[in-house]
Amino acid sequence: MTDNFKSGTIGPQEIVSGDCLPCDEENEILSLRPGRLSEYIGQGEIVETLKIAIEAATKRLEPIDHVLFHGPPGLGKTTLAHIIANEMGGKLTTTSGPALEKGGDLIGMLTHLEEGDILFIDEIHRTPKSVEELLYPAMEDFAIDFVFDKGIHARSHRYRLNRFTIVGATTRAGLLSSPLRDRFGIFRNLDFYDERELVQISIRSANLLNIQMKKAAAEELSKRSRGTPRIVNRLLKRVRDYAQVRADGVITFDTVEAALSLEGVDSKGLTKLDRKYLRTIIDFYHGGPVGIEAVAATLQEESDTLVDVVEPFLLKTGLLVRTSSGRKASEAAFRHLGLKIDRQKTLF
Ligand code: ADE
Repeated sequence: MTDNFKSGTIGPQEIVSGDCLPCDEENEILSLRPGRLSEYIGQGEIVETLKIAIEAATKRLEPIDHVLFHGPPGLGKTTLAHIIANEMGGKLTTTSGPALEKGGDLIGMLTHLEEGDILFIDEIHRTPKSVEELLYPAMEDFAIDFVFDKGIHARSHRYRLNRFTIVGATTRAGLLSSPLRDRFGIFRNLDFYDERELVQISIRSANLLNIQMKKAAAEELSKRSRGTPRIVNRLLKRVRDYAQVRADGVITFDTVEAALSLEGVDSKGLTKLDRKYLRTIIDFYHGGPVGIEAVAATLQEESDTLVDVVEPFLLKTGLLVRTSSGRKASEAAFRHLGLKIDRQKTLF
């Protein structure tokens, strides 16, 4: 075990330590993220799994098993990768599946990892196949196999790596190949947070930002944050602006309502895009069922965005139903949008 394993010092350019954060992300939002498991609110079973795995690995003086997190954006996959690095005292290197275009991109990172370091691969399902194949021996045997020549002259040379941990994150676990999926010892789904947890997160964030917020305001903000901590924190900042400019600086129920209606966020937390998505199914396809590609074409949006960002919360809240013949807007969706359910028109 090197000193680095414990010290979390900063190394080459793309390497960030657990508490040194990528510069493309807003510092204030990042400072709202918990840095330790003890500060983490929600995802109780995942936190307990990680506490046990980290304590056991630390006792054995080994890195923790490779970890795969899947679930919709904003639920804490990246935060947990930072926390694992902090708790293990290793450096965190971050990359993403699409950024790993060539084998050399990955080899460069792997060969710079020291004992106990963490390699975080976001959107791991988008890693090119040729790069993914390099990951198999790296994850299983901490080695890279270099192959020279072809056919009967083929020779291979095994390059040993320091023992490290991969933390993978994906919004689409179903798109991961099984050889890759099977190499993760810990595989956890992050679910939406309940309102009580979001209230706790918003109060913690308001304290960190040094702003006063009433309990009813925290409850309303949480109700409208689509079960997602990243959205709570983003909306909290818009509400703070509103309270400071249009009120006396204290966040009340009324300031939350006024600020969020300006943001286009409705009483259930749906955004303009969510409502446009549901209206498209209702207005153009008689409520469904309709295929995602048809909805995406009508909306002129990427179908991946709809599947990853828009649909999970609508499915969770029962406003959208997925059937074998396509997507359908539920009766609750008609009611929420203030529309009459015309049974003659709807195809279901
Ligand atoms: N900020 C963002 N996500 C959080 C979480 N799960 N717990 C505490 N603070 C957070």
